[in-house]
Amino acid sequence: MKEIFYCPEESNFYSNCLENFVFRNRHNFKHVVEFGSGDGIPVIYSLLRNQFTGLIHGFELNTAAWKVANLTIDEYSLSDKYVIDNSSLFESNQPQAECLVANPPYLPAPDNDIYMPLLFGGYDGATITNQLLTLGYDNVVVLISSYSNPVSTIECAKNNGYYVNNFTVLPLEFGYYSSEPKVKNHIKEMRSNKMAFYSGNYYFLAGVLFTNYQHSSVDLSKELSQVLTGL
Ligand SMILES: C[S@@+](CC[C@H](N)C(=O)[O-])C[C@H]1O[C@@H](n2cnc3c(N)ncnc32)[C@H](O)[C@@H]1O
Repeated sequence: MKEIFYCPEESNFYSNCLENFVFRNRHNFKHVVEFGSGDGIPVIYSLLRNQFTGLIHGFELNTAAWKVANLTIDEYSLSDKYVIDNSSLFESNQPQAECLVANPPYLPAPDNDIYMPLLFGGYDGATITNQLLTLGYDNVVVLISSYSNPVSTIECAKNNGYYVNNFTVLPLEFGYYSSEPKVKNHIKEMRSNKMAFYSGNYYFLAGVLFTNYQHSSVDLSKELSQVLTGL
């Protein structure tokens, strides 16, 4: 289905990050908000593998993806644990939650006229990710790509009172969406301005748990920055 985000490697990684940083977290979160649920598979699979007694409230703008997600939620009888609105979190009342999670749109490009416009992350790819860090949630789990101005995101998190509490990194090959010539050429240009980092056909994707400094004394910002800019 071409109109729904499809990248199993990335979605599995996101699902593993949810397991490690959210569902097996000693804080035992009860309310989680998700930006950009896609077909819902990452959350659904991690719910099936873990005991989670809270509620995940997702937001997905793409109606086709939202419909598929709801069918799968019904199929696995998870509607008491996972609900998704067909709208944008930014336009909503932004439900209260201990944690916000997202594999956000992070493709950099001159404009959103790309294969899948809903994957557009603004000119440098970090616009939506950085916006998610201004919403005031105590914990934020997001995927950050090394070609989407990662330093700006670490800086933005710091300015909004977050420490990097934990992270994990996956090397990924440029795929269908990031290899689109308009996107790839833009990333190449960003590289010369030290806003994109990759090596050959590989880049790094980090799954990061940001926690408000009032709730964490660990800060791995420097380590994360070193890894994401090291390619
Ligand atoms: C990279 S995909 C991730 C999908 C899914 N979470 C996964 O990891 O497989 C990003 C998703 O965000 C959705 N999206 C983009 N802008 C959005 C917005 N303002 N509100 C809600 N969803 C949005 C896109 O339609 C897309 O499904």
